[in-house]
Amino acid sequence: MEMNKEQIVDLMMGFFKTKAITSALELKLFDALEQGPATAEAICEQRNIPLQSGKRLLIALTAIGLLAKQEDHFSLTKAAREYMVSGSAQWLGWLGRHIDTFLYPLWSHTAQGVRDDKDQRQAAFGDDRSWFSILYQNPQDVVDFQEFLGIFAQPFIEGMLQGFDFSGYRKFMDIGSGIGTLPMAVAARYPQLGLSVCELPQATSFVRDKIAENGYADRIKIVAGDVISGTIPKGEHDLIHLGWMLHDYAPDIQMQILRHIHEALPPGGTFIASETPLADDESGPLFTSLLSINMLVSTDGGIESTCAQYLQRFTEAGFVNARVLAIPGPRTLFIGEKRK
Ligand SMILES: C[S@@+](CC[C@H](N)C(=O)[O-])C[C@H]1O[C@@H](n2cnc3c(N)ncnc32)[C@H](O)[C@@H]1O
Repeated sequence: MEMNKEQIVDLMMGFFKTKAITSALELKLFDALEQGPATAEAICEQRNIPLQSGKRLLIALTAIGLLAKQEDHFSLTKAAREYMVSGSAQWLGWLGRHIDTFLYPLWSHTAQGVRDDKDQRQAAFGDDRSWFSILYQNPQDVVDFQEFLGIFAQPFIEGMLQGFDFSGYRKFMDIGSGIGTLPMAVAARYPQLGLSVCELPQATSFVRDKIAENGYADRIKIVAGDVISGTIPKGEHDLIHLGWMLHDYAPDIQMQILRHIHEALPPGGTFIASETPLADDESGPLFTSLLSINMLVSTDGGIESTCAQYLQRFTEAGFVNARVLAIPGPRTLFIGEKRK
């Protein structure tokens, strides 16, 4: 359907809403309403911010639909209580901080990124190191990134458990596991399966703590490794998964990753990549197409691909029976096997 002018203006001004929300998260305005409705005066006094400016933000959050207002009292909507109050299981404040610290500064240089076909880390941060080196230098940034990705991954994990049968395998390794929720969910469902996580050295202590907190320390082995340099366990795991990581890297690096995983599998072993591919006709979907721009400005050539492009790379890396498996939820599985 054709868009009208108001819809276009609304899209263009979308960043007003983004920044109003991330600022309110930073100022902990939602937390100030956790105990019940309050006036602007009470909220601003509690948060130690001036009434005039604080009230502007409270009014905007009400207009956005995250707060409700009755007479002179503001209150949390159901959604704000579930996602905006720190300490809630689904808190999106992790995402808010990641947006303010990384995404918003990088996206400010998008036109230059497109002009140069290059990341904008130098322009945004004055730093030429890799995306993960910059992201992982500060422990708080690791936590923010992994926690919001964990929230994003929940519907994928449910879909993967419904759509893929792990029962024929002996040992499963999740490379680049992030917060470790996939191996923990698999551990709970398949008590006989051996499990390992392989993560970049800077991200292992985070995932180790998460796995221990959830009582899986004895069940899931944590290994520090790098799938690009090929320092990953070899010959031990007959099932390997790599989630939402190929898209972080340029196609030639994706080939290196795929070759190292092929090498690490025993004959007859299976590899699965879960990704959010572009449509075959490259018309979208919207989120994937925007994520591809995000990869442009933040990483060294990371890019979203179509199903055919992923399968071609699998075959070039030596996998046989390369195929797509549609599963419920947001991701698609790409599966390949190492010849017996
Ligand atoms: C975008 S996150 C995806 C997290 C999770 N697998 C998921 O599906 O939501 C990519 C993860 O890959 C890890 N990673 C990136 N490069 C890696 C490498 N070269 N070797 C091992 N892990 C890597 C990162 O530390 C991060 O946790």
